[in-house]
Amino acid sequence: MAVYAVWNNKGGVGKSYLTFQVASEYARTHPNQRVLVLDLCPQANSSSMILGGIEAGEAAIEQLSGMTPPRTIAGYINDRIVSPYVDTHSGASYLTQARTINNAVPANLYLICGDEELEMQAS
Ligand SMILES: Nc1ncnc2c1ncn2[C@@H]1O[C@H](COP(=O)(O)OP(=O)(O)O)[C@@H](O)[C@H]1O
Ligand SMILES: [Mg+2]
Repeated sequence: MAVYAVWNNKGGVGKSYLTFQVASEYARTHPNQRVLVLDLCPQANSSSMILGGIEAGEAAIEQLSGMTPPRTIAGYINDRIVSPYVDTHSGASYLTQARTINNAVPANLYLICGDEELEMQAS
């Protein structure tokens, strides 16, 4: 399994867009592999693009983050804050198969959706 981190402290340099493109294109050209995007940015722009773009994507993020528990990175972090040393065995329940929301992306593309709540959790 290969893991890639896309990081830069400065905003507006293309992290979100590059993540969307690289993940989608890799998934399209490697249909027998599963690709997971773990969106750790509170702005969640990669998640928005993967889930359908500015309007549909933002609506999808709102829907996922409004679930109980939120089906986003914030939901997972909440689990870990409550019991940091106990294996919750619950990571998989925070996954979204992007195709179930946006049929323009490959079926082997999975997402742990970003969430603005991460900003609060980080502090
Ligand atoms: N290769 C590119 N060519 C043209 N515009 C780009 C490219 N990559 C990103 N952009 C645009 O630049 C802006 C910032 O990119 P974004 O991915 O949101 O940056 P970051 O996540 O680092 O803040 C966005 O409007 C995006 O659409
Ligand atoms: Mg970004």
